[in-house]
Amino acid sequence: MTVFVRSVVLFILLLNLTDVNSVTLTFSESDLQLIISETKTVWLVPSEPLNKTALLLFMYEIGDDIRYTEDHQLLGPLPDINITANNSQGVQIRLTPVHAGNLNVGVNSSSEELTGLKDTFVRLSIFHSSAIVYINIVIGWVYFVAWSVSFYPQVYENWKRKSVIGLNFDFLAYNITGFIAYSFFNVGLYWIKSIEDDYKSLHPRGINPVQLNDVIFALHAVFVTLITICQCCIYERGGQKISKISSLLLVLAWLFIFVTLFLAVGKVMTWLSYLYCFSYVKLGVTLIKYIPQAYMNYKRKSTVGWSIGNVLLDFTGGSLSLLQMFLLAYNSDDWGSLFGDPTKFGLGAFSILFDILFMTQHYILYRYKVTYEPIQQGEEDDVEESLKKIVL
Ligand SMILES: *[C@@H]1O[C@H](CO)[C@@H](O)[C@H](O)[C@H]1NC(C)=O
Ligand SMILES: *[C@@H]1O[C@H](CO)[C@@H](O)[C@H](O)[C@H]1NC(C)=O
Ligand SMILES: *[C@@H]1O[C@H](CO)[C@@H](O)[C@H](O)[C@H]1NC(C)=O
Ligand SMILES: *[C@@H]1O[C@H](CO)[C@@H](O)[C@H](O)[C@H]1NC(C)=O
Repeated sequence: MTVFVRSVVLFILLLNLTDVNSVTLTFSESDLQLIISETKTVWLVPSEPLNKTALLLFMYEIGDDIRYTEDHQLLGPLPDINITANNSQGVQIRLTPVHAGNLNVGVNSSSEELTGLKDTFVRLSIFHSSAIVYINIVIGWVYFVAWSVSFYPQVYENWKRKSVIGLNFDFLAYNITGFIAYSFFNVGLYWIKSIEDDYKSLHPRGINPVQLNDVIFALHAVFVTLITICQCCIYERGGQKISKISSLLLVLAWLFIFVTLFLAVGKVMTWLSYLYCFSYVKLGVTLIKYIPQAYMNYKRKSTVGWSIGNVLLDFTGGSLSLLQMFLLAYNSDDWGSLFGDPTKFGLGAFSILFDILFMTQHYILYRYKVTYEPIQQGEEDDVEESLKKIVL
């Protein structure tokens, strides 16, 4: 009996579906950058001509706040618009931005022919100044290059000295773990379609947080860190090794990745959530990775073997990235995104503080110690002493 009823319902549903023409609407652009008081037009194009004229209403969305009237005051009001029957080329919409900010414009209609309207939207970024937009693009490239190049001074220094004494192995172990985790995260979100789709269904109006240069940066970082690790195998290392506590933390990190892998395979968590586990590992690594090196410099009272070029470039990249975040927040009147997402801002600031510490160690604290250090005797640590003899 129920089977019969169900079949009838299904049949009616199918009838309805085939009966109604199903048309989708698309904006000619998915993302638009606008400058205040410069108008721009976009097209709204139907996938097929409609049989009946449809009246469209615009929706203005900031996050979950969706309204039919534009009282966020970012955009001049858009009049309701008709897409007439037989129109195949679409309708033109004039956008007049009045205030800086981020706003999505969506569409609704009572027309039965239009389907999937929740996927019809355009993301608007309204900026104060176009100059700042261009400056930010340049800044973005400069810090990408600075950060990517920052790994090489250390490689060069090791090669020149034919020694890795003074370069902390805990730091390297954290770094390789962090960058491998970061690569998994970036590659997954950028290249694996199903994960990207998961992200989109979770954040329907969101932009993929990973871009191509993030992927390149991460993979390149893994590559250069591996070179540095090879150098540690070849060159003189004076008995340096990875500390017990770091080994323990890293084993725990990889165990975490391994256990959550089974949860993902067993469908207890989504692959997207699994990728986020990698980002937590990267986050943890970033918080602690410089500590052993800073402590080692302090114990040795020297920064010999720890490349200052690496620190200076990292500092350059970090400060430019913070500057870019500030300029973007200013240019789009969106300070919430800066302080609302403490990881990006906080981690950037945190790395900069360590860079400043390293510069202080290198240029101020242990500046003159370097030359006369080997003459001094009576250090407490045997290994340390033998290290220094080899270095200097
Ligand atoms: C619209 O037209 C198509 C063919 O041109 C037809 O198949 C469809 O049933 C029509 N839809 C409505 C709602 O009239
Ligand atoms: C849309 O078309 C209907 C008739 O199909 C008309 O009554 C209405 O005024 C039109 N609205 C606009 C905004 O053009
Ligand atoms: C749409 O086009 C068809 C045939 O091309 C025509 O019969 C119909 O009247 C047109 N409808 C409108 C509203 O222009
Ligand atoms: C779109 O309009 C329909 C009817 O006109 C309404 O039922 C629906 O809730 C609206 N959707 C949104 C997201 O406002």
